[in-house]
Amino acid sequence: MNILPRPAQLIENEGQFTLTDGTAIVVDPATASLGRRLAVELAPATGFTFKFLNHPPMGETSIELKLTSRLKRLGKEGYTLHVEPGKVSLRAAELPGLFYATRSLLQLLPVQILRQARVQGVAWTAPCVEIEDRPRFAWRGAMLDVSRHFMPKEFVKKLIDLLALHKLNTFHWHLTDDQGWRIEIKKYPRLTSAGAWRKETLVGRMDYSQENLTYDGIPHGGFYTQEDVREIVAYAAQRMVTIVPEIEMPGHSQAALAAYPELGNTGRALEVLTHWGINEDIYNVNESTLTFMQDVLSEVLGLFPGTFIHVGGDEVPKIQWKESPEAQARIKALGLADEDALQSYFIRRMDAFLNSRGRRLVGWDEILEGGLAENATVMSWRGEEGGIRAATSGHDVVMAPNTYTYLDYYQSEDTGREPLAIGGYLPLSEVYAYEPIPHDLPPEAARHILGAQAQLWTEYIPTPKQAEYMFFPRLSALSEVVWSPGEGKDYADFLRRLSVHLQRLDILDVHYRRLD
Ligand code: ACM
Repeated sequence: MNILPRPAQLIENEGQFTLTDGTAIVVDPATASLGRRLAVELAPATGFTFKFLNHPPMGETSIELKLTSRLKRLGKEGYTLHVEPGKVSLRAAELPGLFYATRSLLQLLPVQILRQARVQGVAWTAPCVEIEDRPRFAWRGAMLDVSRHFMPKEFVKKLIDLLALHKLNTFHWHLTDDQGWRIEIKKYPRLTSAGAWRKETLVGRMDYSQENLTYDGIPHGGFYTQEDVREIVAYAAQRMVTIVPEIEMPGHSQAALAAYPELGNTGRALEVLTHWGINEDIYNVNESTLTFMQDVLSEVLGLFPGTFIHVGGDEVPKIQWKESPEAQARIKALGLADEDALQSYFIRRMDAFLNSRGRRLVGWDEILEGGLAENATVMSWRGEEGGIRAATSGHDVVMAPNTYTYLDYYQSEDTGREPLAIGGYLPLSEVYAYEPIPHDLPPEAARHILGAQAQLWTEYIPTPKQAEYMFFPRLSALSEVVWSPGEGKDYADFLRRLSVHLQRLDILDVHYRRLD
């Protein structure tokens, strides 16, 4: 069986089911749209036109999709899939589970089922199995940075398709940073008219010791209109993927400061940043700036229906706040201890704002410094330390440690044979070996680990093709980390299934890195 990620339970039986032009898809009103989508997916390669029935046919094979409260124990994303010679039954308590049952069915069929053109000479058989499956974690994600390099809408959709293929359910969209603001905000048009474009980009790796960095002289930019965003959100929802938008604050904000200098601390005119690294130019904490942030978030909330909104919070040098009389006066007036506490104040205001709108704030682990906002969820990237602290104090956590989940790191030690990357070394085997629940974390804290996700920062990843090269197959390994049971891990078995899975990625025109 070549299902990836590995199902929780799978029993192989004798025999096989054969899909034919006469196979009926059996649905009821609740499952009709999923059944139709399955038919649309099965049609191009097979050339079959399936009939839809609301009861099992006499003397014909069938694929039956049903929701049943009896499977509540498997949660909303769990499902069963029974393949018998005459019939395939997909069952789940809720639609996400049923969708994942259809993903597994597609992976039981020959890989050519994914081709978007008629395939001749293939017997469309699936082996008889009984699968009972459910994800280990609720948060199974991947982050894409579209600020450092803008990625076209078509690629974002392709990535969402690939997340769904791997039963990943969260797309974290890093939409703003120093090097570009990528989402249209109607109230502040300069965020994109000015903030979405930089005049050029650093050539080669960022080197702080160099006085004269080399730039390419080529303008770079782009952004998603609100119409684009709505389209992508709807596309993701059909594939059971929730989008978590990230609007960075108070650091990684130079693109916004270039558009609206009054949001900064120095009054200096800035341009959208053209090189990489940590940047001292950050938002001020004036009331008008907090209002700006809430206005931006209001538009974001109107576009993204998901619970979580990411506010960044990472890598905020406090030098400008130390030197700014306004920031110092603010610290004093609010009775705060220091600049770290001022950052906490900033994030707490956003936490309260988002909570008042029925949403939840998530931020990188630096939001712990100076005191964690009451209802914040922590994304632990500087190792697992921040996640452990947050979970121990009763906060929810998403694990994103750089050592296991930063897919912008090299995937080979032989870096001369790889495209230029930010550094690091994270081979496929290491991603597969990742265990999101830290050792010795007591059960009451472990409950707060919602899951884990992969990160793709794109300083050195200018094109979709290169993004695919860095994502895959390491994201395939991560999908197994977050979906499959923690026990029973077997790298050799993963590689065996991956060798078939890579044929799927070939058919889907994914430019993955070949195995060593
Ligand atoms: C990060 O890598 N700065 C979250």
